[in-house]
Amino acid sequence: MSVRLASLLDEIAVPKRRLIVSNGLVWRLHEGAFSGLASDDPILIADGERFKNLQTVARIYEGLIRASADRSSALIAIGGGIVGDVAGFAAATYLRGIPVIQVPTTLLAQVDSAIGGKVGVNHALGKNLIGAFHPPALVAIDPDLLTTLPRREFRAGLYEVVKYGVIASRTLFDTVSARLAALFARDSATLLPVIAESCGIKASFVEQDERETGLRRHLNFGHTVGHALEAVTRYRRFRHGEAVAYGMLIAADIARTRGTLPEIDYAALSGLIAQMGPLPAVTDLSIAQVLEAAGRDKKVIAGRLHFVLPGAIGTCEVVNDVTPDEIAASLRGLGLKA
Ligand SMILES: NC(=O)c1ccc[n+]([C@@H]2O[C@H](COP(=O)([O-])OP(=O)(O)OC[C@H]3O[C@@H](n4cnc5c(N)ncnc54)[C@H](O)[C@@H]3O)[C@@H](O)[C@H]2O)c1
Ligand SMILES: [Zn+2]
Repeated sequence: MSVRLASLLDEIAVPKRRLIVSNGLVWRLHEGAFSGLASDDPILIADGERFKNLQTVARIYEGLIRASADRSSALIAIGGGIVGDVAGFAAATYLRGIPVIQVPTTLLAQVDSAIGGKVGVNHALGKNLIGAFHPPALVAIDPDLLTTLPRREFRAGLYEVVKYGVIASRTLFDTVSARLAALFARDSATLLPVIAESCGIKASFVEQDERETGLRRHLNFGHTVGHALEAVTRYRRFRHGEAVAYGMLIAADIARTRGTLPEIDYAALSGLIAQMGPLPAVTDLSIAQVLEAAGRDKKVIAGRLHFVLPGAIGTCEVVNDVTPDEIAASLRGLGLKA
C-alpha cells in the first residue's frame, strides 16, 4: 500500500513532511504496509473509546511539536474511527489546521467515519461534543487491511452497509445478502465494490447537504433507537453498528405496521440481520428508559422526534409524527420489558 499511497500523495501535492498517527494494535498488525511513508516514528495513541478525548489530542500536539511539524506538514491517520476522529481533530486545530489523510482500517471507518469530514472527541459529559469539519485531503481505502479485523468489529461495520442499502440502493442490499459468506471471508474482490458504493452513498448525501438539514438525515436510519440503546447501556454493551441493527428493525417494524413498508421488504431486512449473526441481548432493558433516551436525542427538533422510515428496500423518508406508543409497541415486539 505504501508505494501507491506515497505516489498518490505526491500527485495531489500533499506536503512532503508526513507524520503518522495510529494506535499500538493497528501499527503492530500493519506497520509493514506503510513502511517508508513517513520518516519519523508514528505517534501512537491508546486504543478505546475512553481515550477519544482532549488529553489524547494534547498528546498528538506534543508529538507534532516535538517533531517540529509546521504548516507544510500533513498528518496521516491510520486506524479505526477513533484514530480518524482524534487525529483528524488534532489536524484541524494544530497551527489552525494542517491537511489530514485518512487511512481507515475498520469497515466502519472505511464506509462511514472517514467520509464526510466530521472529526472530534468526546467530553466527560457526552459523546462527540467537541469537534470540527475538516475534510481529508485524501481517503485511502484498502480492503486487505480488514483481514485482521475481529469478526464482531467487521459485522458492526457491515450493519452500516446494510443501512446504506435500505436507504439508497436495493442493489447494494441484494449484493450484501447474496455475498455474505465472501464478505465475512474478507474477499477483497467482493468487498471493494461494496465499500465503494457505500462511500459513494455517504459522500453524495453529505455533499448535497453539508449542514445536515435534509437529505443527510436519511443517514440516521436506525440511529434514533440505536443511540438510545447505546445510551441506556452506557456505551458498553453494543458496538455502535449492533445498536443500529436494532434501530433499523424498530424503524422497519413501525413502517410495516403503518402499512408504508411492504411485508416482504421487512422480511428481507430482518432476515438479513438474523443471517449476519447474533446481536447482544435487549430483553433486560426497559421500554420506558429507551423512550426517555430517544427523547433526549439531538434528532428532536422543536419537541418532535425526526424518524427515518424505510418505504421499501432502497428508499426512505423522514417523518416527524412517530409516537412514543408506536416505538414502545415495536420495542415490546423485540422483547424489551414494560
Ligand atoms: N466522524 C464521523 O463521521 C463518524 C461516523 C461514525 C462513527 N464515528 C466514530 O468512530 C468511532 C468508532 O470507530 P470504529 O468502529 O472503527 O472503532 P475503533 O476505532 O475503536 O476500532 C475498533 C477496534 O478495532 C481495532 N482495529 C482497527 N483496525 C483494525 C484492523 N485492521 N485489524 C484489527 N483490529 C483493528 C481498533 O484498535 C479497535 O480496538 C466512534 O468513536 C464513533 O463516534 C465517527
Ligand atoms: Zn452509525
